[in-house]
Amino acid sequence: MSNMQEAHSFIIAIDGPAGSGKTTTAKALAYALGYIYVDTGAMYRAVALYAQRRGVTARDTGAVCALLPEIDVRLERKDGTQRTLLCGEDVETHIRTQEMSKAASDISALSCVREAMVDLQRKAAAGSDGAVLEGRDIGTVVFPDSPCKIYLVADAETRAQRRKLQLEEQGIAADFGTILREIEERDRNDSAREHSPLRKADDAIEVETTNTTIEEQVSMILSLVMKRIDQYRKGTAA
Ligand code: DC
Repeated sequence: MSNMQEAHSFIIAIDGPAGSGKTTTAKALAYALGYIYVDTGAMYRAVALYAQRRGVTARDTGAVCALLPEIDVRLERKDGTQRTLLCGEDVETHIRTQEMSKAASDISALSCVREAMVDLQRKAAAGSDGAVLEGRDIGTVVFPDSPCKIYLVADAETRAQRRKLQLEEQGIAADFGTILREIEERDRNDSAREHSPLRKADDAIEVETTNTTIEEQVSMILSLVMKRIDQYRKGTAA
């Protein structure tokens, strides 16, 4: 076990493209297992928001890197819901827009941003009994020694349809074609970048969710994870 993973922390890594059901799955696992939940995408979104407020774009690498020491990002749970704090301000609603999805994808390609966020993500999981982290590079870079890696996939149309429903539930009108284009663009951006691109870790279990409901997805992954935890405990106890 590397020193990146605390001796007592069981790290569950959930990776996959936008709209593959990572958040619902990761939250449900964390809840069922009593583990902490770390939404690493929220951290990149918060950095993107900070840069936008300072008038800095991801194209200006030097300016983004220079901002990083000022940026304080924290994830907190309050009354059962997650809040993303940016320098103490709850920015949860501000970071969930389609504009911030794109901005986060762009800014997350910068290696200085990745280094700072990966460090934060490892610290967020450290010291817990167990943690569920969702993102793009959890199984490949953040916790490559995780004994339990899940890689979610679903076709782009299905993911766009899910995103449309989510937005409509929040009272936001959404056009399917626009969402699909944005999802495909983000897939390309997140997979083609030089640093920590989105990809399945060799030892991750790939779960295809195009034709499953979110309830089926969660229950299937939960039983898979429970088996892994059991095997891991037997292995480490032996
Ligand atoms: O999971 P999300 O949609 O909130 O993530 C927003 C963007 O942040 C995503 O398009 C790419 C980036 N990201 C990343 O590069 N690495 C992660 N571990 C999580 C998110």
